Amino acid sequence: MFEVGAWRVPSVKRLLRASVAGAPAAVVRQRRGPHDGAPPGPRHLAIIMDGNGRWAALRGLSRTRGHQAGVLALPRVVDTALEEGIEHLSLFFFSTENWNRPRAEVAALMRLTAQLADVFRGYGERGVRLRWLGSEARLPRATLAALRRAEDDTRDNRAMTLAFCFNHGGREEIARAATSLARASADGALDPGAIDEALFTRHLPHADLPDIDMLVRTSGEQRISNFMLWRAAYAELFFVDTLWPDFTGEELRALLAAFATRKRRFGAGVGPV
Ligand code: FPP
Repeated sequence: MFEVGAWRVPSVKRLLRASVAGAPAAVVRQRRGPHDGAPPGPRHLAIIMDGNGRWAALRGLSRTRGHQAGVLALPRVVDTALEEGIEHLSLFFFSTENWNRPRAEVAALMRLTAQLADVFRGYGERGVRLRWLGSEARLPRATLAALRRAEDDTRDNRAMTLAFCFNHGGREEIARAATSLARASADGALDPGAIDEALFTRHLPHADLPDIDMLVRTSGEQRISNFMLWRAAYAELFFVDTLWPDFTGEELRALLAAFATRKRRFGAGVGPV
C-alpha cells in the first residue's frame, strides 16, 4: 500500500480549480443522430493519455511534473467533449500494469488522481457524471475515497459521463465478468448454455457503458495497452504524435471531424457482391 501523503507532490488543485470553475458554461451541442443529415459523432469517446513522461524529459523535468502538466490539459478536453455533445468520455489514467512503474511515480499518480477527482466534482454543476472504472486492489484509501465521493456526488447527472479509468485493465474487467457469471451459474441462477455476448456484457462492471466508438492515443505509440478490450471491439482508432500535455481542444475537434469521414462497417462489407 502506498501512503499517498508520504510523498510530496506539489498541489495542482488550485490551478485546476481555476480552470474548472472558470470555463464558460458549455454550449452543449445537440447530439448528432442519423436523422439530422450530419454524420453521427461518437457516442463514446475514449482517450489513452500518453506522453507525459516524454513531455517532461524534453524539458529536463521530472515525470511527476509531466503528469501535473497532463492533468492541467484535462479541462480543455473535457470542455470540448461537452461542447461537442459527447455522451461518454473515458480517460485512461492508470492501468493494472502501471504498478510496475517506479514507486515514487505511482505514489504521485495516486495523489494527483485523488486531487483531480475532488476538483472535478465541480463539473457536476455542468451535468457531468463522474464514474470510476477500475479495481480497488492496492489503491490507497485517500484515492479510493476521492473516487467514490466523485461518483456519489454526481450520480444523477446526465449531460455527459466522464469515466476515470484508473487501476483499470481490460483483461481484469473481463475476468470479473467471468467470475460473476460463474457465481450466478454455481448458484443455479443462470444456465451456462445461455451465456452469449449480450449476457456477458451485462456482467461487466458498469454494464450500461456502451461500446467505444472512437479511441484516441497520444504520443505516437500505436497500441491499446490492455484498455477496455471488450468495449473496444469496433472502435475507430486514432493515433496522434502529440504528447498528452500538448493536446488541445482544437486537435480533438479535428479528430472528431476525421471520425465523421470514417466508414464504419461492423463486418458488413461494402460494394456489389
Ligand atoms: C498505457 O500506456 C497508457 C496509460 C495507462 C495511460 C497512462 C497515463 C498516465 C500514467 C498519466 C495519467 C494522466 C494524467 C493526465 C495524470 P502504458 O505506458 O501504461 O503502456 P505501454 O507500456 O504499453 O506503453
